[in-house]
Amino acid sequence: MPNSKARITAIGSYVPERKLTNYDLEKLVDTNDEWIVQRTGIKERRIVQSDESTSDISYKAVLNLMERYNKSMDDVDMVIVCTMTPDFKTPSVASLVQAKLDIKNAGALDINTACSGFTYGLHVANGLITSGLHKKILVIGADAMSKITDFEDRSTCILFGDGGGAVLVEYDEKQPGFLSANVGSEGEKGKSLYCSNLSHHIFEEEIINTGKLVQNGREVYKWAVTTVPKGIKSVMENASLPLNKVDWFIPHSANLRIIESICEKVDLPIEKTLYSLVNYGNTSAGSIPLSLDMGVLEGNIKNGDKLLLYGFGGGLAHAGMLIEWNLG
Ligand code: UT7
Repeated sequence: MPNSKARITAIGSYVPERKLTNYDLEKLVDTNDEWIVQRTGIKERRIVQSDESTSDISYKAVLNLMERYNKSMDDVDMVIVCTMTPDFKTPSVASLVQAKLDIKNAGALDINTACSGFTYGLHVANGLITSGLHKKILVIGADAMSKITDFEDRSTCILFGDGGGAVLVEYDEKQPGFLSANVGSEGEKGKSLYCSNLSHHIFEEEIINTGKLVQNGREVYKWAVTTVPKGIKSVMENASLPLNKVDWFIPHSANLRIIESICEKVDLPIEKTLYSLVNYGNTSAGSIPLSLDMGVLEGNIKNGDKLLLYGFGGGLAHAGMLIEWNLG
């Protein structure tokens, strides 16, 4: 990987106000708080109102960033929104956000790699800036998962929530933040986690529950706890650094049991891990930026820290990276 010339300089986040607790879900499906907490660690999640969409979450996350870091969006030259729940097939969420922020001279594109979206977005932004093509990129990870959740399916509706975060990635040759990365995809396992669009089949299998998320939880679980540890090893090897140099591990907030298993496999103390799932559930592409921002706001993440981010999920795809955190 060529030496990075990019750095994350600011962060913001947003979650909708409406809460959906495990006790609320007990009234919708045959489940209970104890089962959900024991199997996933999740206690509650946030849900958008019917007139709120991913572009609203994205826009509000950027407003939060602007308020806190006094950053102008006027010279942003690319808007990247990572999401699997776009408001429309077209226009892209990135174009909607570009318009809402009145950014005049920027490209706009959506990236859909489901729960690994945000780390893919950062990887692309680092590449675009390091290559010299762009200077200032907004990377947003946001999902309104409640729009595609089947609230009659107890195996999925207990997992997901809505929310997201935004970071600004800027040109910085002197203090670059992107140290190493690892990306991968096993598309042949795509039928373990899908949401149909125009297709009626996924590989040889007929689509069930059109328009809603369908998941083989056990398969995704098994894949995640074998793939992510290997990916982490690649990230650290690519950076030529041992894992004990990592200050914070910020994995996709899918399920606390998955995170614990990954930590055990790579010998990383769970105390060094930050996750947003307890109060926000699995927010797909929103989960890593939400966890990052919680870490910043709670005073855990400090400038100079080395952060290991790892996104994984639908695709099945994954992307991880080691970054040095230096806002401002
Ligand atoms: O971000 C995308 C990545 N996705 C993920 O990371 C999800 C990965 N998978 C998981 O997190 C877990 O597989 C789940 C949390 C989805 C399920 O946990 P599990 O421990 O794998 O449970 P299971 O599917 O093996 O089901 C065990 C039992 C079953 O009953 P029987 O067959 O043993 O009688 C299920 O019917 O638990 C039952 N069950 C439930 N019971 C109460 C499934 N969902 C529920 C529920 N409440 N909500």
